Amino acid sequence: MTITTTGALPTPANPGPFGHKLRSQFLFPENYTQFNHGSFGLFPKVEMAKVRGQVAELLHVDADDLALVENTTVGVNTVLRSFKFAPGDRILRLSTGYVNVNKTVDFVCDHAQEVKLVEVPITFPLTDKEMVDAVEKAILHHQSLKDGSRIRMAVIDWISSVPSIVQPVKQLTELLKSYGILVYIDGAHTLGQIPVDLTDLDPDFYIGNCHKWLFSVRGSAALYVKKKHQHLIHPIAIPSDYKVNFASEFSYIGAQDFASLLSISSAIEFRKQFGEEAIIHYSHQLALEGGQLMAKILGTNVLTPDDHQVANMVNVRLPFKDLSNPKLTSSSYLMNLQMDKYGIFTPSFRHGDHFYMRLSAQIYLELSDFVRLGNIWKEIVDDINAESP
Ligand SMILES: Cc1ncc(COP(=O)(O)O)c(C=O)c1O
Repeated sequence: MTITTTGALPTPANPGPFGHKLRSQFLFPENYTQFNHGSFGLFPKVEMAKVRGQVAELLHVDADDLALVENTTVGVNTVLRSFKFAPGDRILRLSTGYVNVNKTVDFVCDHAQEVKLVEVPITFPLTDKEMVDAVEKAILHHQSLKDGSRIRMAVIDWISSVPSIVQPVKQLTELLKSYGILVYIDGAHTLGQIPVDLTDLDPDFYIGNCHKWLFSVRGSAALYVKKKHQHLIHPIAIPSDYKVNFASEFSYIGAQDFASLLSISSAIEFRKQFGEEAIIHYSHQLALEGGQLMAKILGTNVLTPDDHQVANMVNVRLPFKDLSNPKLTSSSYLMNLQMDKYGIFTPSFRHGDHFYMRLSAQIYLELSDFVRLGNIWKEIVDDINAESP
């Protein structure tokens, strides 16, 4: 190998900017000399601890109680698959839970002896009180069985996916705890969309994506585990620091790409130029006003009349006449039509006896975008309704 240069290059005898002065910038202990870069590589220390600290600040928790993981699905699997459920334990979930999460609960029930599911059927619109009552009714019904089993843990959304509803997590957490049930909050949609104060909420477990509303790169999420449960929870892939402590176990799970986790820091910096409050306020108002505009154009309504059940995502009813039309039951027809013909995409879905679309407000959108979206959906609905007698 020949390197041509005009100036003198550092050499081992004369390291210049290299050598020992860089030791402190890499991730190894002071009393350790690293001669094994070949096994695992090593990145400059820049940011992992800083990132965890920044996320901890957003969540109002101690950084040592947080693990940075790839996504919500991994976070839910991490907890549910390492927690030691006993025979007779029940896991409570709502029918509106996210599919990956609900399937993880199915998996745990399939693989653990005598662990079963208690599912609470939910059809919106419901008031907060009606939701809390529905969960309490399911708990009381379960107790009335007197079969020796107990509901050990509940997994509940903070903001559900479809339909998207901000749920009364504070009341639900208090209720569940009053029955001795551990609470796992799926906060996939919370960070960056609503203020999150885990010290105030005090769940047993929480997972929140940074790669959704906080703007970091995909593959970045934060898992919170209350101190008293940390000895029970281990990464899905067991690391060398197994049983050392929660933070160490999750800090190095074999060689992997940490870039998405490091991007959380840039996302937080990006948001600072506008301020968290301004971002949340703008997006929330846009969701409320945009949703009403869309509903007006379509001659329908938004799913929930309670503004506090809306964050940045709003569900607008689509007035299809025949919900059994194959174009609506197909998983791809409406998606392809929107993308190919109009250059937009909004998820659409059946919930209860109606069909809705879910739109996401964001700081790069304005009300005029919602007018356009409303007119596009009106055209789609009119065309499909023309096929029905
Ligand atoms: C409520 C909810 N939970 C979990 C997930 C899964 O998130 P991830 O893709 O980060 O695993 C989603 C994804 O949209 C979601 O909406």
